[in-house]
Amino acid sequence: MKKLSRLFAVSLSTSMALALPVLAAGPGDNIKQGKSLGEAGYEWNKGDGEEADALKAKPDLKNGRDVYEVCSACHMPEGWGLTDGTFPQLAGQHFKVIIKQMSDIRAKNRDNPTMYPFALPSQIGGPQAIADVAAYIQSLKMNPKPGLGDGKDLALGEKLYKENCVRCHGEHGEGDNDKFFPRLEGQHYNYLVRQYQWIKEGKRRNANPDMVKQIQTFTDRDTKAVLDYVSRIKPPKDKLAPVGWKNPDFK
Ligand code: HEC
Ligand code: HEC
Repeated sequence: MKKLSRLFAVSLSTSMALALPVLAAGPGDNIKQGKSLGEAGYEWNKGDGEEADALKAKPDLKNGRDVYEVCSACHMPEGWGLTDGTFPQLAGQHFKVIIKQMSDIRAKNRDNPTMYPFALPSQIGGPQAIADVAAYIQSLKMNPKPGLGDGKDLALGEKLYKENCVRCHGEHGEGDNDKFFPRLEGQHYNYLVRQYQWIKEGKRRNANPDMVKQIQTFTDRDTKAVLDYVSRIKPPKDKLAPVGWKNPDFK
């Protein structure tokens, strides 16, 4: 079963790599598409439905590990995803961020057709299972060698990051569990770029409307620079696994 699921992940990632987005045309195009999400009828993080129930649940790490087995086919046993960004690193992400994203994906407020069939209540269970797997994922140590950009524009990236992103994602890209702001430091660059573009264009419908507004004027150069910068920030030592670590839970 484990071999099969690895195989599946590999063939899937190859096909998805072809679909990896190139940076969208010009900033002007995006401004036109960037409607306020309020208009689209999604109220950011209203916190009802499964999210509210999962947040109230008392997480069971052992069940979280069992639930994570199916996730490991794509996100890998270590929770490190793939450095090409096809699958995000989940390890070390905040508990509440994972709960929000899982609930949004299941409620179809965030499109994720690849993952959707594997994340359904019939596959993994209800809100309790979301809380369990979120606790397990948060406990995993992060990949010390994430996928990076070309490193050519880091001074611009740092400047843009400090001026535009710190207020939500934190000085080091550490995010904020209580505010549902994701950790960005150490995430694969290609994944960050894809999400950022989708947030900017309104394709990722569950995104924070203040962020959507904030990034409308970013050019392609700005985007690459800021995300290359943040992907390179080293998470604190206690969050990192040694290079080449294998998760003993899935031997
Ligand atoms: C078939 C492959 C696949 C499986 C199985 C899978 N995922 Fe995913 N997951 C993805 C992909 C692809 C994305 C990124 C989608 C995108 O680019 O928007 C993702 C994104 C996520 C995210 C959002 C991360 C973020 O940074 O916002 C979370 C959380 C997540 N997955 C959790 C899980 C959990 C928990 C499971 C198991 C119950 C699981 N996934 C199973 C493919 C998968
Ligand atoms: C007003 C707060 C706010 C600001 C400012 C902001 N963000 Fe965000 N960002 C968020 C929230 C909240 C999310 C999660 C979206 C959701 O709820 O689905 C997010 C998600 C992201 C993601 C996707 C992460 C993932 O794991 O999928 C990226 C990449 C990102 N932000 C980059 C940036 C960058 C770079 C800046 C500065 C140029 C920025 N953000 C400014 C609040 C903000």
